[in-house]
Amino acid sequence: MKYFLDSAKIDEIREAYDTFGIDGITTNPNHIMNSGKPFYTVIGELADFVKEKGIEGWDVFPISVEINPHLDDADEMVAMAEKISAMCKNFVIKIPCTQAGITAARRLEMKGIRTNLTLVFSPSQALIAAKNHSLFVSPFIGWKENSGEDCAQYINDIVEIYANYGYLGETQIICAAVRNGKQIVDCAVAGADIVTAGLQVYKDSMYHPFTDLGLTRFQNAWDKTVTEE
Ligand code: E4P
Repeated sequence: MKYFLDSAKIDEIREAYDTFGIDGITTNPNHIMNSGKPFYTVIGELADFVKEKGIEGWDVFPISVEINPHLDDADEMVAMAEKISAMCKNFVIKIPCTQAGITAARRLEMKGIRTNLTLVFSPSQALIAAKNHSLFVSPFIGWKENSGEDCAQYINDIVEIYANYGYLGETQIICAAVRNGKQIVDCAVAGADIVTAGLQVYKDSMYHPFTDLGLTRFQNAWDKTVTEE
């Protein structure tokens, strides 16, 4: 399963790429706002980053960039998507799963501009993304679980539906808004292609107190053992 970093902060992206090899990036208007920089400046930095690392191309290191969320006309969505897409070969255009968004994504995919249908909260929304050949679909996990739903079955259902109709791998499932290691494991058990989460979520998921405890025990044992030089 691939790990994408959900962030628009270049320092975090560098750290996640250099320390544990993230496979791609997802951004959204919140992340861009939190970077404290203007929209086109931030995505320009992302474009520079992939050049610097020699990881150009959406098939090598995809970066999801969301269009203006106020747009509700497919023509306008396509126009903005084309402008963003022209800036960098890594950019995959994130579009909300509304009727206009689905129409725009369908047109963009027909033109060879890859899309990520986002704000997906049901298997039937995920199905329409695959039918129209979006590269990615982003079912949100954390938001649903915050409101009391268990998402393991939700992700299982999407994976099963995609398997039933040959969509698995064609439209890759990005489990989004992942908040903890339990959710990462649920997504992996279900067979999702990708999770996307913040840097701290990944760091926490790699930590176990028994690892520290074991290390202390082994250090004590090492110290009581003669080590011949
Ligand atoms: C995914 O692609 C979204 O950017 C993200 O996971 C949304 O959730 P959040 O901003 O609440 O983490």
